[in-house]
Amino acid sequence: MPGNLAAYSTEIPLLNSAVYKKMPELFRSGKGMAYGTYPGFNSFMEELAIAKHNSSLLGFIKRNPVLHEKLQEGGMRVLDLGCGSGVATRLMAREYPKSQFVGIDIDETAINVASKAVGELSNIEFVMKDAVDLTDGELGDFDYATAFDAVHDLNHPEEVVKGVVSVLTKRKGTFSAVDVQAQSDIRGNVGSTMSGFAYAVSLFYCMPVGLGVDGKGKGFGMMWGQDKALKLFRECGFKDVQVKEIEDDPFNVEYRCQVEPEAATDFR
Ligand SMILES: C[S@@+](CC[C@H](N)C(=O)[O-])C[C@H]1O[C@@H](n2cnc3c(N)ncnc32)[C@H](O)[C@@H]1O
Repeated sequence: MPGNLAAYSTEIPLLNSAVYKKMPELFRSGKGMAYGTYPGFNSFMEELAIAKHNSSLLGFIKRNPVLHEKLQEGGMRVLDLGCGSGVATRLMAREYPKSQFVGIDIDETAINVASKAVGELSNIEFVMKDAVDLTDGELGDFDYATAFDAVHDLNHPEEVVKGVVSVLTKRKGTFSAVDVQAQSDIRGNVGSTMSGFAYAVSLFYCMPVGLGVDGKGKGFGMMWGQDKALKLFRECGFKDVQVKEIEDDPFNVEYRCQVEPEAATDFR
């Protein structure tokens, strides 16, 4: 059900037990945490992804008729960046059997779970890969890329987004970065139902993992907001970036980023 908070309700106790007592030291040192140091986070994320993506993902794609038709026709290569256990990637691959899907994630456990769940699907592949290495050309070119709830967690978002531009350039592709609906200026979030919860989760998880163990990562945090997101996508090479509301998902927005404004795979 859109807006249902039940799936989120276990997150605070989970993050509390993993990091609460470490927070003062993290504040003092400016350092962060590794993804793998949150016991139970992957399975929480998988449950959340099932609740979220099952209810809204296909609606989100189908309401974009050009994208939906192209995926249906087939021959499209789609990258899902920071795919976690691959819930969204598998949902798309099942719905569009004539297109090819590649999910990448830096986390080995998540990729193992994703790969085991592939089953009969022959149009999907999961690869353990740091998205900063997208420019190495190993995965080839793509028509469409997605990132669900992943960009704000990246240690080095500029390098990654430039990498996304590089794999989409040849096919004049589009990137849908689905991320938390927030304003970059904290005052813009006062009164929002989700903001207290979202800042707490961000402080306990998104900011520490985004800073990384050496503290040298960007550490955007979940509440980085539209101004920072638009700046990132534009400065890293996307020529046209639009913010789109998602009908079934009031907590997130889509940043629809085009490599070329009037491109062959223009999904506006
Ligand atoms: C909040 S989870 C979202 C997972 C999934 N997209 C979903 O909707 O359930 C963010 C994911 O980004 C991955 N990630 C973080 N940094 C990454 C990087 N540099 N390269 C690839 N994946 C990364 C994390 O391991 C994690 O699985």
